Amino acid sequence: MDLDLSGKVALVTGGSSGIGAASARMLKHLGARVALADIREPDAAALGVGDSLTVTVDVTQPAQVDNMVDQVIDRYGALDIAVNCAGVGMPVKAPVGETEIAEWRRLLSVNLDGSFLCMKSELAVMQAGASIVNVASVTALVGVEGASPYSSAKHGLIGLTKTAALDYASAGIRVNAVAPGFIDTPLLRDPDEQTRRRLSEAHPLGRLGTADEVASAICFLAAPAASFITGSVLVVDGGYVAR
Ligand SMILES: NC(=O)c1ccc[n+]([C@@H]2O[C@H](COP(=O)([O-])OP(=O)(O)OC[C@H]3O[C@@H](n4cnc5c(N)ncnc54)[C@H](O)[C@@H]3O)[C@@H](O)[C@H]2O)c1
Repeated sequence: MDLDLSGKVALVTGGSSGIGAASARMLKHLGARVALADIREPDAAALGVGDSLTVTVDVTQPAQVDNMVDQVIDRYGALDIAVNCAGVGMPVKAPVGETEIAEWRRLLSVNLDGSFLCMKSELAVMQAGASIVNVASVTALVGVEGASPYSSAKHGLIGLTKTAALDYASAGIRVNAVAPGFIDTPLLRDPDEQTRRRLSEAHPLGRLGTADEVASAICFLAAPAASFITGSVLVVDGGYVAR
């Protein structure tokens, strides 16, 4: 199976933490040159990706996103792999009728508009053979009580992924998504023991996933091993949506 990314240039948004940081480390391990981008300035050395390019970006801001991609091209001369992972969770849950419009817009803005803006800038410089992996969620496939903005944004991201896959298939650019279950990262905000147990039990494998387990799926989709896969959603959820 060809997972060799030698000579490839990879950009990871949301690279300062969790799934993005794990993906950046794994992409580098597989041979890629990696650029990390995040709203919180990435510390490449601390994240274990050495001398990688780091970019501070708010993915909701079109000019900043264009600048991010420009910096990658200036430094590395190409963009072969993009992992759009920047995202925010929902600390306070509410039914649809009690959801504040500001919260709806915040979630949609980062989790859907942000991915759109990144893809728009990335696709403008990508060549045949390039590949994008978007980080969706199981909440893109099923509803989640009290989390309509998050679930709607992630459902939208799947539509965006499939449509971009069709738009760019003839250009030889693949676009896929992963749909993680609940993963043990800072996005879960240190759930108390009871919440952790409840979330763990929601997965037939009986535990939360790890950032590395999602990164493995991301790297597979980004690699030549997945050369005939586009427009697909790889579910990484310990069986969560199989129920
Ligand atoms: N942890 C989970 O259970 C889980 C499950 C399914 C999907 N996801 C998705 O995985 C992705 C990564 O989440 P994670 O769990 O690693 O969380 P995380 O909080 O560890 O990482 C998210 C990163 O995105 C960055 N970010 C937030 N807003 C940004 C913005 N406007 N511009 C640029 N960067 C921004 C944060 O600074 C952070 O470093 C998110 O898209 C999330 O929705 C997470």
